[in-house]
Amino acid sequence: MPLSNRSFPVVETGAFAVIRPASFLQSSRATAKCDGKASEDTSGYPPNVRARWSTVRELATATRARLRSDGLWWVLAAAIRTSTAFGTKFSEEIMFEFHTRTRTRGDYWSSQQVIAKALYGDAHHYRPIERRLMNEALGAVEMDALASTFIDLGCGKGRALVVAAEFGWRRLVGVEYDPKLAARAKKNAASYSRRRLSSPDLSFEIIEGDAAMYEPPAGPFLLFMYNPFGEQTASAVIDRVIHSWKSDPRPVSVIYAFPRWEHQLQRPELVETARVGNPSFDMDQAIIWRLT
Ligand SMILES: C[S@@+](CC[C@H](N)C(=O)[O-])C[C@H]1O[C@@H](n2cnc3c(N)ncnc32)[C@H](O)[C@@H]1O
Repeated sequence: MPLSNRSFPVVETGAFAVIRPASFLQSSRATAKCDGKASEDTSGYPPNVRARWSTVRELATATRARLRSDGLWWVLAAAIRTSTAFGTKFSEEIMFEFHTRTRTRGDYWSSQQVIAKALYGDAHHYRPIERRLMNEALGAVEMDALASTFIDLGCGKGRALVVAAEFGWRRLVGVEYDPKLAARAKKNAASYSRRRLSSPDLSFEIIEGDAAMYEPPAGPFLLFMYNPFGEQTASAVIDRVIHSWKSDPRPVSVIYAFPRWEHQLQRPELVETARVGNPSFDMDQAIIWRLT
């Protein structure tokens, strides 16, 4: 469904950095950094450089604190554990990309100009969902994949769309406002569809536009969001979905991964049916809601 062509007000906004620290830094301080809020930085460095530099500084501070509190052996053991976990995750991702003929790895920050074009300008940067979390979330959804549309708002390079296709969804829609990411998602969708094992009735639609303007399709659908934007866009999206469902009641479920704005999105029509992932770390969590 096309998004209407509107001219949006230019919103002055900072870039958004969601930083995933090494596992041994998962302190409350590190979690507070992952809030997706605009950075106040005025250094002039691009957001990806700032975010990486701030991760390095955070790592150094936490390492010093750990050396003081737990000693050198603790730090060495944690470093080995972290690098092993990183290696496992990296190799799993490579295998997934070979299997699906896609390339979705790698964080990506949109330019200020691109962010400003979105209605509320509260975009978060691209980071692909971890497959483990996505698998758990899709496994907890009670929906007929063949009879419903899977929609990823803020689809980035299309990782979640491809995982949903692996789970049996045949109609998949991705909305992404960043032109480069949308182009990559189209390429990935085409390459995945050309695969030897691909099903002939598979259909991907990648819409380059603002999720806040997306009108849900007729028929049952599963809406997916991996903390793609801030409270304003997320609220606008949820209100639009509820409005569409009220005017045509049908099976609708929502997966909200890294549910940063969970409390702001509470609505009487959204009933939580499951919560998966790591309960103590919201980056690794997903909520499943059903509209009733
Ligand atoms: C954290 S990434 C999620 C990527 C993907 N859904 C996945 O799970 O692999 C968030 C994505 O949302 C996009 N985004 C942010 N605000 C948006 C908006 N208002 N409309 C469309 N896309 C948006 C960003 O460009 C980015 O690619």
